[in-house]
Amino acid sequence: MNHPASDNAPHGLRFNPHVAALPPYNAGMNVEVARALSGQHDIARLASNENPEGCSPAVMKALASAAYEPWRYADPACTALRAALAHKLACDAQQVVVGNGSEEMIAAIARALLTPGATALTVVPSFGLHEIEPLAAGAEVVKVAMTPELGFDLEGLECALARGPQVAFLSSPWNPVGPALDHAALQRVIAAVRPGTLLVLDEAYFEFADPGAPNGIEVLRASGVAHVVLRTFSKAYGLAGLRVGYAVCSHPEIARVLTAAKTPFNVNAAAQAAALAALADEAWMHASMGRLRSERERVATGLRALGLRVAPSQTNFLFFDAGQSSADVADTLLRQHGIIVKAWREPGYERFIRATIGSPAENDRLMAALAQIRQSARVSA
Ligand SMILES: Cc1ncc(COP(=O)(O)O)c(C=O)c1O
Repeated sequence: MNHPASDNAPHGLRFNPHVAALPPYNAGMNVEVARALSGQHDIARLASNENPEGCSPAVMKALASAAYEPWRYADPACTALRAALAHKLACDAQQVVVGNGSEEMIAAIARALLTPGATALTVVPSFGLHEIEPLAAGAEVVKVAMTPELGFDLEGLECALARGPQVAFLSSPWNPVGPALDHAALQRVIAAVRPGTLLVLDEAYFEFADPGAPNGIEVLRASGVAHVVLRTFSKAYGLAGLRVGYAVCSHPEIARVLTAAKTPFNVNAAAQAAALAALADEAWMHASMGRLRSERERVATGLRALGLRVAPSQTNFLFFDAGQSSADVADTLLRQHGIIVKAWREPGYERFIRATIGSPAENDRLMAALAQIRQSARVSA
């Protein structure tokens, strides 16, 4: 294996070669950078799948309350939050581990189960950390590609699962593509899991799925396979900046080891207070999901009317073939229209863009900008 970054270690230091060789995480652009590049103040942030409607007013109230004491260490066990989650999800609090975002739980899973020589399975295009965290642990990452119809390759997944990877990371609904495994597809995946494999179903976008989509926590609980389901407060609940997500484990022993793999005071007091308040006002979240789902369908229809190939989505974003270099389209969207989207970089997918569903005005702006870009591409062709 080639570890170019290790060669640059100063003072004769010896970095962990797996970590030094990691690819960078493709994070959404900072808004100040976008303002400087575009010369526009009003930036449409459509790259990070945040909730454009914000969060429940109950969260802001909780953060202003005297009960929230920033000068105290927060509860390292997140006792109240785990109890509230266990109540909501009808599981035991001992099966729940709370993370500094669900991304910390992905890192904890890799740290807990993967060692050099192990194999992790995921899909491509993929959510970056499903690959980066196994690589950091020195594991080999096997990736099953999306089908030409922009869906899950179930046969490919079945074959790869039959080879018994230590961990299989699947997001459903799928970031960055958008579809969710339906009931039959999820059952096929479950049936292919062998003893010795931990199935990690990352449901960061669960709340955006249409009613009737499988609830991974319930389906996997009934399945008997070793699993962790990941969920987050960053997306539907609008708490991305506070960093709180969680893992629901099939067995308390898995939860115990994930707890050992995280940092002790990982979830800060503001995040715990905010997540509890958000859970106490799920009516806000459900109403927001209803609006964002219909907005998603409106934008998908609009993009298809421009002749763009758009993957079906059960999330708060759309993944589409821009018909040309997505980096070029993203650059024009940014510099000329003040819109940040995510141009996909994984080899084979460089024509794809992922755009978050924003406010109706931001979405109109995106559709108008893409219409203009398509028009000028036609003129210059
Ligand atoms: C599939 C998926 N999993 C996990 C995460 C991490 O979310 P967070 O750490 O904010 O909970 C994201 C964020 O974009 C995601 O898309």
